Amino acid sequence: MAATLTKKTTETGHDGSGRAQPLLQPRGKEIQPYGTLARLPIGLDDQVCQASVETLNQILADTMTLRDLYKKHHWQVAGHTFYQLHLLFDKHFEDQSELVDKIAERIQLLGGISIAMAHDVAETTRINRPPRGREEVPVQISRLLEAHELILKESRVAARQAADAGDDGTNDLLVSDVIRTNELQVWFLAEHLVVVPVVHAD
Ligand SMILES: [Fe+2]
Repeated sequence: MAATLTKKTTETGHDGSGRAQPLLQPRGKEIQPYGTLARLPIGLDDQVCQASVETLNQILADTMTLRDLYKKHHWQVAGHTFYQLHLLFDKHFEDQSELVDKIAERIQLLGGISIAMAHDVAETTRINRPPRGREEVPVQISRLLEAHELILKESRVAARQAADAGDDGTNDLLVSDVIRTNELQVWFLAEHLVVVPVVHAD
């Protein structure tokens, strides 16, 4: 009886005892290294999938950076427009978060591997790194506008390449979701940089 009590619970007996022990800290080889393609039966050639995965990963890294830039500004905004910008920045953050998920899942369904972790995003993005400290509203907005424009330019090129290669799904994602969302957010931001009188008309 004493021997049974001291038996390690990771050992599974013939009677199945010990199966309740969780197997902790497993470490194995990656099942798919980054940059490789798993073939899925979606009727597209490997080269087409590979090209779309590569361009989408760049757009993903930039979109994740823009998403995080919105949250930074949501927290750090200051001044008499604090409340409206605090809310607007968070709204745009949410929209960009949805785009991140759509782009990442498109990469996976093409058989690729989407960039996920902040370290990898930081190494990949082309958006300039802002300082850790707080900046004035016009500086915050111009940083966002520059990031939007970078994403819009690369997305239009990528959308055309995807359409030419026959990858209509990627083209649709880029045009219907990424480009349209970014264009709309540029409008909402840019109108804040128009100098109009608050009380007296010119
Ligand atoms: Fe918040």
